[in-house]
Amino acid sequence: MIEKIHINRSRQKLIIYSIIVIWLLAINLWLFKNSRAKTTLSAFSTAPPHHSSIYNQYDDEVVYKMSQSEIESDLQGLSSTEAGSPVAIKDDFTIQLLQNNLKTKDLRGVDAHAEVYNTIFSNHNIDSIFGNLDFEHRCELYFRNLFLNDHNWAFNPNEDLELIYRDDFAYEDYYRAHSGEIKKKYSEKIDKPEDQINDNDPALKKYIKQEYNSWLNSTRFNEQIVVNGVTTLRIFNKCYISNDNATQVKAMDKFIKNQHNLVSALAASEGERLPSFELTKQESLINLQQSTFEHRVYPWLSFEPPVYESWQGHVYYQPPNLQAIRKGKPQPASKSKSPYFLSQFRDQCNGKGIVLSIGDKHADDTVRLIHLLRALNNKLPIQIVYYDKLSTATKEKIVTAAREPFNSLPRSFAKIAHYFPDDYLTAEENGLPKQDVWFVNTYNVINNEFKDKFKGFGNKFLATLFNSFEEFILVDADTAMMQNPEFFFQLSGYKKSGAFFYKDRSSFEDRKDSDGYFFKKISPSIIDSVMFNIPIITEHTLDREFFRGAFQYMESGLVVLNRKQHYNAMLMMLQLNFYQPVTQRIHGDKEIFWLAMAVSGDERYEFNEYFAAAIGEVTPEADRVRKDGTNAHAKEICSPHPGHINSEDGHSLVWINSGFQFCGQASKIDYDKEYQKNTRLKWLTDANAFKTFYYAPLRISQAVIPPVDIRFRATNTEEEPEKGWHMETEYCNSYMWCAYSSIGGKVEGGGTNTREGTLIEFPQSARDLFAYYGDIWVGLE
Ligand SMILES: *[C@@H]1O[C@H](CO)[C@@H](O)[C@H](O)[C@H]1NC(C)=O
Ligand SMILES: *[C@@H]1O[C@H](CO)[C@@H](O)[C@H](O)[C@H]1NC(C)=O
Repeated sequence: MIEKIHINRSRQKLIIYSIIVIWLLAINLWLFKNSRAKTTLSAFSTAPPHHSSIYNQYDDEVVYKMSQSEIESDLQGLSSTEAGSPVAIKDDFTIQLLQNNLKTKDLRGVDAHAEVYNTIFSNHNIDSIFGNLDFEHRCELYFRNLFLNDHNWAFNPNEDLELIYRDDFAYEDYYRAHSGEIKKKYSEKIDKPEDQINDNDPALKKYIKQEYNSWLNSTRFNEQIVVNGVTTLRIFNKCYISNDNATQVKAMDKFIKNQHNLVSALAASEGERLPSFELTKQESLINLQQSTFEHRVYPWLSFEPPVYESWQGHVYYQPPNLQAIRKGKPQPASKSKSPYFLSQFRDQCNGKGIVLSIGDKHADDTVRLIHLLRALNNKLPIQIVYYDKLSTATKEKIVTAAREPFNSLPRSFAKIAHYFPDDYLTAEENGLPKQDVWFVNTYNVINNEFKDKFKGFGNKFLATLFNSFEEFILVDADTAMMQNPEFFFQLSGYKKSGAFFYKDRSSFEDRKDSDGYFFKKISPSIIDSVMFNIPIITEHTLDREFFRGAFQYMESGLVVLNRKQHYNAMLMMLQLNFYQPVTQRIHGDKEIFWLAMAVSGDERYEFNEYFAAAIGEVTPEADRVRKDGTNAHAKEICSPHPGHINSEDGHSLVWINSGFQFCGQASKIDYDKEYQKNTRLKWLTDANAFKTFYYAPLRISQAVIPPVDIRFRATNTEEEPEKGWHMETEYCNSYMWCAYSSIGGKVEGGGTNTREGTLIEFPQSARDLFAYYGDIWVGLE
């Protein structure tokens, strides 16, 4: 009896819920249709087209084609160019409805999708896909069509996609920069001397236009290849690498169910039945062999883990479980159920640690960093990742630095000893705590034919992927931390997101909008978002100064990452390195970390809010007197070291770049010349004083974070700085930078344009600690 009532109750509940759901759907549909009707109407008005591109904004004549695929699918009547023509895939009613339902506002101004989708949507009714297929079948559909288009498909890391004229997308820029050289080419072509051709000759103009069009076409063509490549990667990763993630599975179930309901309701509202889905004959003939699959997507990986070697010389051929080693237990068996190497590898990684990627030339800096880590009371294991080779001499130096007794401390220790715990110096450890150092040889993780792709900056991403930790701090050899490393894992930005980054000096700004446009273009498309729940990027990414002209946004000398949470994005970091249109827009590895996350559809990353500071000592007021005898308003610090102030507390210095010696270039300086310049560091009274100062540890009393001035120059009449940073090429072999605590002042014609930055005075206790760390790093007794 009780059971029966229970059943009746839950059936009642079900009916009520169903009614509510259908009712909500109906409202949703009605609202959506109505709002669409309005936008359609407004298309007849004189308002500019909704989808504007920065390119045709510059030049009306350029009919900017979204991608080669769209040019082609134009012909099939499937899709179209930007300016109001039939229906592009993303403008299909169902897709818009589903996108609308995801509630992510599209702020990008461009949407480019992989060409595979064109094949998929030409073979299938859109509603039949979204109304019927679950996640797994969508994955299969994507890859069936990828292989259908090209049975031999495999990602090609060696494809030559050289980007020429990256800044000149607008015709007028192109004309300004290249008309000269094209005229020369033209004169050779028509065999007439250059000086006899008028610049306004219509035939010449036409020729230049043709050259421009053909350049634009091939640049777009290459961009589409990148779009295709990164789309396939993010879908593969979501479909087959992170598909065992319970959070993802749950979210995906909900996502799919919701879509099925919506599309069914849509059909019902039009008195139709949901069309059924069937694979085409060709699609069904494609055999998706899982084991070969991963090799096609990651042809550059050998699918061998790196070799891990402990400081004692014990060698492991898979990620070692350090906890088991510490307890003297055998290595636990892998629990991974995935058929894929990449998932298995991820699941074997464990624990927390510090990761460096070095070559032999970084040996001395690494030794100093390890001394510093000992002084910081670091308890985390350290993995030194290398690629080509690391000499035995380097390894010996590093192991010695980590393990030798370290008990003669600098005099500066006395002042700060009481800040450390009682067991900081133990008799047993013979001084500062010893470090658990590992060497990771990644040479064999890369297939032979692609090995040369990983020379240089690529190493840092290999270190990111192939260290054995689940959570890690990736540092450069010349990074100097001012906090015990555990501090970085406790940052609330890291705890919240599992990916924490720092910003660079807000100094260079020569980045055109076309760079930002490119990255928006290769980020997840609307179709990725409705098909695979890979969200389009939001203001979290798009509001960053990078998209407003900052050339350097991130400072990658210290990065904190959680592997389990961001594995797919880490794989994207490596992939982006293969594309010249990416690498030619980025200096080294700097921006790739966060851009790869955005491109992979993972915006869960946080930045320390402040841009980098100049750290050291404020220039004496006497040296900053204006012509009228008054003191300058802006405070100045000139220093070769950027430092990073924790924005979560607003005042602590957490790490600095370029080591700890005042001038990292000290051995390359002509000190007589340096002294005779007499414009900076005026309190140093002879060449010898300069030399001593340059070799000594940086002394840190203050920090200046200049106001952000991207694309702004504070021209003023008070001799106040116009820009927040000034690169002082005359000192320390061009490594010196001066930073100002404010810019601007009174302007001609009245008013002011002052912008204030931040000046931080470190308390004596902090200065004493910095002095101790500096002495340790430099090796002062
Ligand atoms: C655009 O460039 C691609 C690749 O360079 C080429 O195959 C294609 O024919 C070009 N299209 C036009 C219309 O020039
Ligand atoms: C699953 O993925 C989410 C992000 O989508 C991540 O936050 C979470 O840590 C992952 N869980 C596991 C167990 O890997």
